[in-house]
Amino acid sequence: MLRAARISDVAEMAQFINSFAQRNLMLPRPLNRMYENLRDYVVVEEDGKVVGCGALHILWYDLAEIRSVAVREGYQHRGYGKAILDSLLEDARKLGVHQVFMLVLPDGAMARLARKSGFREVSKDELPHKVWSDCLNCPKFTECDEIALIAEVGPKIESPHQWSSVMSAYVRRGGDADSVAIPVDIPKASPGKIR
Ligand SMILES: CC(C)(COP(=O)(O)OP(=O)(O)OC[C@H]1O[C@@H](n2cnc3c(N)ncnc32)[C@H](O)[C@@H]1OP(=O)(O)O)[C@@H](O)C(=O)NCCC(=O)NCCS
Repeated sequence: MLRAARISDVAEMAQFINSFAQRNLMLPRPLNRMYENLRDYVVVEEDGKVVGCGALHILWYDLAEIRSVAVREGYQHRGYGKAILDSLLEDARKLGVHQVFMLVLPDGAMARLARKSGFREVSKDELPHKVWSDCLNCPKFTECDEIALIAEVGPKIESPHQWSSVMSAYVRRGGDADSVAIPVDIPKASPGKIR
């Protein structure tokens, strides 16, 4: 059964995510981040336990990231990974997201699944700088071996934000870690708008 994650799922999700991370198959997720972003997650429950999970994290008005897709060993190759991916993409569509990306190992099962679902590789440099706030805390930051895959899930959207309103929000927040990347994109944007 695929469903939205609950607080009681986190310990189990963390156990298999972090055991895959120890084998360099995916990135580790600190518990506080999992609780803070719990609404991003779906899980697959089978035999009374959580056997798979994945998250859709909204980053900007037109961009979301798929993160932490994992299926326990012993439950793989049953279609759960694809079901999780499909569900996250459907959420993105319903939310009105334009593009979804993920960072994956180039030859892994996730990359194969994503390509079959319409994702294509893009240079990581093409992703907006705001994507990299998580990378700053990543153990692989200096030697990242992941590739970026991206897919369009909804229509392209004109930026609803004026530079001035985003800048004043940024200044009010004191430039904390989550907002620090926002102004970096401004020079790339069309005048008066930010992407
Ligand atoms: C990536 C991962 C989530 C895929 O989960 P999964 O549940 O095995 O995914 P699926 O079952 O949907 O698909 C996996 C393969 O099984 C195949 N498959 C699906 N159902 C099948 C079935 N009933 N019989 C035989 N094969 C089947 C799929 O076609 C796919 O084949 P491919 O690898 O050649 O493309 C899982 O391998 C995993 O957790 N890996 C470790 C963590 C990881 O790498 N996460 C990605 C982080 S970016």
